[in-house]
Parts: sequence; C-alpha cells; structure tokens
Amino acid sequence: MTIPLHIEVVQKKQSRANKEYIKEIVHSYLSNFSTLTPGATITSNDLEENLELRENVHSITFCDVEHDSEVVTTECELIFHVYVLDAFGAETDTMTDNTSGEELPVADVWALPAEEFHGLWESLVYDSKLKEETLRFVETAFEFSDRGVDPNVIGWNRVVLLHGPPGTGKTSLCRALAQKLAVRLGDRFPRARLLEINAHGLFSKWFSESGKLVAKLFERIREIVDDRRLLACVLVDEVESLAHARRAALAGLEPSDSIRAVNAILTQLDRLKRHPNALVLTTSNVTGAIDVAFVDRADIKRLVGPPSERAAYEILRGCCGELMARGVVAPREQLFALRVLEAARFVETEGSRASLRLWAAARAAAAAHSSGRALRRLPFLARALHTRGEPTLSVFIEALHSALRQQVRDAQDLRDDPPNSVS
Ligand SMILES: Nc1ncnc2c1ncn2[C@@H]1O[C@H](COP(=O)(O)OP(=O)(O)O)[C@@H](O)[C@H]1O
Ligand SMILES: [Mg+2]
Repeated sequence: MTIPLHIEVVQKKQSRANKEYIKEIVHSYLSNFSTLTPGATITSNDLEENLELRENVHSITFCDVEHDSEVVTTECELIFHVYVLDAFGAETDTMTDNTSGEELPVADVWALPAEEFHGLWESLVYDSKLKEETLRFVETAFEFSDRGVDPNVIGWNRVVLLHGPPGTGKTSLCRALAQKLAVRLGDRFPRARLLEINAHGLFSKWFSESGKLVAKLFERIREIVDDRRLLACVLVDEVESLAHARRAALAGLEPSDSIRAVNAILTQLDRLKRHPNALVLTTSNVTGAIDVAFVDRADIKRLVGPPSERAAYEILRGCCGELMARGVVAPREQLFALRVLEAARFVETEGSRASLRLWAAARAAAAAHSSGRALRRLPFLARALHTRGEPTLSVFIEALHSALRQQVRDAQDLRDDPPNSVS
C-alpha cells in the first residue's frame, strides 16, 4: 500500500520557474533520500550543493497526518504543492458611516497563502486529531460540491464553528486552515483570499447604519466570490457578538435596526454557502450563549479546549527549541519527543533529565488549565523575571516552573479580586 505524503514546496518570490519544473527538481532531489520524516522541513540553507534548488526553492516540508515516524520514500505517493507566499499583508476594508462620517474597519482581506500564516498550522498543537479532522471535513465538503452532491439528500455544508475558552487557538486555527486549503487546493483554486469580518466593530456602534454596512460589505464579498477559480474563506470571529446584539435588540435594549443587521449577516452567510468556492469559518468563546440559529448553520462544530499535558509538553518543547536556536538559552541540548520519553518509560538518565523536568512543567500547566496563549507567554516571563545572564537549559526549565507558579497565583488573585470589585 502506498502512503500519500504531501510535500509542500515554497517557491522563492524571485524565482521565475514554472511549478512543473519545481516539482521535477524537488522530486529528483528527494530521490536521494531513502526515508523521509513527516513534519520535517528542509530550508534553502540546507540545499547548499544544489544550486538549482537553492535559487528557486525557499523550503520543502513533509506533511503527513498518519505517521509520526519516518516513512520509506519508495512506499509513498508524493503529492506536491508548489506555491509562493504573499508578502503584502492584510488590506483593511473600511466603510464610512454616513451619520457620523467616521471610517469603520469592516474586514481584513488577505491574499493566501500569506507569509504571516506560514508555519502557523504546524505551530498549533492538539493531541486529538482536531486539525487533521477539521481539514478532512472541509476537503470532503469541497469534494461533494465538486461532484455536485445534492445537499437536500445528504446534509453537508461549508460552515465551520470552533468554540471553546479564550486563548485556545481558535482564531489561529481558522487562519491556518484557510492557509492550508489555499496550499492543498492550489490546483483547483489558483487564487485564494481570507476575509476576516470585524463583527465586533460592526455591531459595537452605529446601529442605525449597520444594516446598510452589512449589505455593502456582502456586496463586496460577493464580487470576490463570483470568481469561481478563487477560494474564498470568510472568517466571522467571535460570532457571539452577533448573538449579543440580537438578544439586546430583542430585549428592547438596542434599536430594532440592529436585529435587522444581525439577521442580514445570517442570511448573507447562508447565501454564501451556495457558492461552491466559499467557506465560512466562525469562532466563539462561549458555547452556551450563541444563538441557536447560528449553531444550526454550522455542520462542522468542534470544541477546542486548553492543551492537554501532552500538547503542553510539545508546545513548551518547541519554545525551548526556538530559544536555543536563537542563543537565548545555551548551549543547545536535546529535549526528547514525548514518544521517546514514553518508550523509555520516563526513566531518568543523564540525557533525559531536562526533558523530564519539562514534562513536569507541562503536567502542572495542564492541571492548571493553562491556555495555549498562556503557555506561549510562559517562556517570555521565565526569561524576563526568573533568569539572569545566559541560562542553560536546566536553569531555564526551572525558571519556567517559577513563571508557571506565578501565572497560576496571578490568575487566582484576579478571580479572588476582580478588577471592578470595590474593596
Ligand atoms: N493548542 C495550541 N497550540 C499552540 N499554540 C496555541 C494553542 N492554543 C493557543 N495557542 C497560541 O495562543 C495564541 C492565541 O490564540 P488564538 O487563536 O487567538 O486563540 P482564541 O482565538 O481561541 O482566543 C496564539 O499565538 C496561538 O498560537
Ligand atoms: Mg479568537
């Protein structure tokens, strides 16, 4: 049986070679390897002796979801995705509120694959198959659209809802997913855009005009979506702000125009679903409070929780790796992957001591329900507040423990003494 292995090749901006040619030279380069490591990346610096590749290729990444160990090259079906990263960043779409004359940012538009989101997918760690399953869901939805499967017979659509506590990577995962699709579906869709709708901004103010703004915004979105060779990912972040506005209007706390504006968004999102090249991504920090109407619209609903101890370990290991690569922590030492520690039954040896201390920190972080965001901040706090000079890895890991204890204490203080409480 052959194993499909996706090979993502970032072409250099200045390279004028066509994609087929790039595929060929990468393919022949890879035939030098008897095995490939999923998740590994080769950058142009590693390609010293191969001038042709160096000139044209920025990096080569092997992606595989089924295997976490090396795969034999001849047993793989190599699927190449060659792309150039867009370096222009987001373009902010603004509209003017006629009543106040103020400029209101209504959406950010990114051309994908974007430089900013390169590596984002890989940086997100969940120990369930959350990323892979979400990607499979969406790929399947596009496959069904392609084949013209009747949505009245089989229920499916292209609306994703990620919900869960703040800081667990929902917004990042939506962006990373859009980027991943732009790369993976590059043959079908030579162009791709991510449109981030600023729902919060649209509904925090100007209710009398928001209905009109929503209509105008979707007119612009439709212009983009009308290009059938373009993949359009529309992200409505923190969708609960729509539900809040709606509830407030229903309770008579807001002008009734606002409910029309919110309903307009929901209707427009429904219409968007009919376009075979559109994907609607939504996130919510609160599950219970979202409008039922909205939840029903999403076929792909995933709960995103704080990292487990395993995921926390991999996040912290990645952070330590980065600081050692940059020379902030020195000298460079090895931290074992979790499966290596497990294979050795967590037995302490000279070589595994640092990894085991890091594992203890990861377990403490998971027990404290630290979010992914909090974990990524920890190394910074450890460096700033708990180390001096150039720390070794083991000194730095102890500092991580101290930073974590402080973070937990601070969170406790906040809960005990909310900022708006009167003492
Ligand atoms: N599971 C995770 N793995 C790696 N990084 C994470 C994870 N969860 C959160 N982060 C990091 O935390 C930060 C905040 O994530 P964000 O996507 O804004 O969360 P949310 O939208 O859920 O509030 C990002 O920098 C992200 O990389
Ligand atoms: Mg978010």
